[in-house]
Amino acid sequence: MGKVAAAVCTVAVCAAALVVVRRQMKSSGRWAKAEAILREMEDKCGAPTENLRQVADAMTAEMHAGLASDGGSKLKMLISFIDNLPTGDEKGLFYALDLGGTNFRVIRVQLGGKESTIRRESEEFSIPPHLMVGSSHELFDFIAGALAKFVATENEDFHVLPGKLRELGFTFSFPVRQLSIASGTLIKWTKGFHIEDAVGEDVVGELTKAMQRVGLDMRVAALINDTVGTLAGGKYNNPDVVAAVILGTGTNAAYIERTHAIPKWQGPLPKSGEMVINMEWGNFRSSHLPLTEYDQSLDAESLNPGEQIFEKLMSGMYLGEIVRRVLMRMAEEASFFGDNIPPKLHIPFIIRTPDMAAMHHDNSSDLKVVGCKLKDVLEVHNSSLKMRKMIVEICDIVASRGARLAAAGIFGILKKLGRNTVKDGEKQQRSVIAVDGGLFEHYTKFRNCLNRTLQELLGEDTAENIVTELSNDGSGTGAALLAASYSQYLQIEGSSS
Ligand code: GLC
Repeated sequence: MGKVAAAVCTVAVCAAALVVVRRQMKSSGRWAKAEAILREMEDKCGAPTENLRQVADAMTAEMHAGLASDGGSKLKMLISFIDNLPTGDEKGLFYALDLGGTNFRVIRVQLGGKESTIRRESEEFSIPPHLMVGSSHELFDFIAGALAKFVATENEDFHVLPGKLRELGFTFSFPVRQLSIASGTLIKWTKGFHIEDAVGEDVVGELTKAMQRVGLDMRVAALINDTVGTLAGGKYNNPDVVAAVILGTGTNAAYIERTHAIPKWQGPLPKSGEMVINMEWGNFRSSHLPLTEYDQSLDAESLNPGEQIFEKLMSGMYLGEIVRRVLMRMAEEASFFGDNIPPKLHIPFIIRTPDMAAMHHDNSSDLKVVGCKLKDVLEVHNSSLKMRKMIVEICDIVASRGARLAAAGIFGILKKLGRNTVKDGEKQQRSVIAVDGGLFEHYTKFRNCLNRTLQELLGEDTAENIVTELSNDGSGTGAALLAASYSQYLQIEGSSS
């Protein structure tokens, strides 16, 4: 009996050991597979400096092509009709309406010329998701209603001159074909908006009708893109600003071009000899972009397949979603989260870029924040340190690729402006790139990587005189300043003098 019992015991011990060994093998096989997926992705996302130089050259070439003719390039290079940026002499009460993401803002500023500081008030509203894909009528009614409520709270610190209408700078951050400084038609939606009946519409006309419906007597003095507003606001604070970049929900850039370098401009030549160009760089694409299967499926399943490829590689709307897609493949093919795929991981856009940034910035030794995010966002309750470390690595790869490509885009603009090198015997002018957007403002690792890469591309000597500068709310204040410099009353005064 004793011998039998001992034998049974030995068998049981062996079987248990076998289970443990199998489990270990399964688990090490799992990690090895996950690791392989990660390395493959790292490899494909790599954006070595030489590659970035090619991206920048392609950007410069596309800029030329887009300036030569409409439709000449993926880069629309839209003419803003802004040929003079605010000087600081602007005076009076002006409003701005900033629409371009899931939130919109209304702003009022009292400008008092150079000697006085700007008095400013603002309010933010979020757009109910159904209005982003509904009808243009509903969207503009909602916005006009909010604007009217805000105007009603104006106090005695702000005053419109007797007999004059309140004027508005309308920042509408989508691709618009401008017809004049204060009118233009929507070319297409981006960033998750999809309102069929608005495409091709006169956006100022739509807003004006909505303002009339809510009884608001206000006139749109300037219709601008957020990049153009940021450029205006940035240059108002710092005359060395030559270009503006938005890195937020979407991404785009604007810069000051010489009119003689814009062959497609058929209008009168402005005295300044300059014109602000809204590049719509989000739509840039090139064979040199390091695209992966994750980007391809994200694009194919998006609201605008084949479009905004540069934007889909780097903007706040998409970075977290790329991470989700990588995790999904690891869950499916390497059982990264165990035998079952966390149901929440199937939901597109469930990992938002701020979640990704929080995980990426986690400095704690046990990656506590990553653990919490996994719990809160994906309902994964038992994450190991190894798993958390791999997730941080994915965030790093995705963010670094985006930041490096954004730096290459900026380098492309500097090349177009001839500001990318120090010319022999010349003192280099200082160039500032005003940057706005939550991604740049809050995702420190992204921002640092962008700045490092720009320095790397410029080289030490040139980099000394070229900086990016956060231009917080440049676009809101910029829109009000532009409304002031393009005020109807100035034009009337100007023409009667
Ligand atoms: C999208 C829009 C563009 C805007 C950018 C940043 O790319 O098409 O007009 O400037 O987002 O908001």
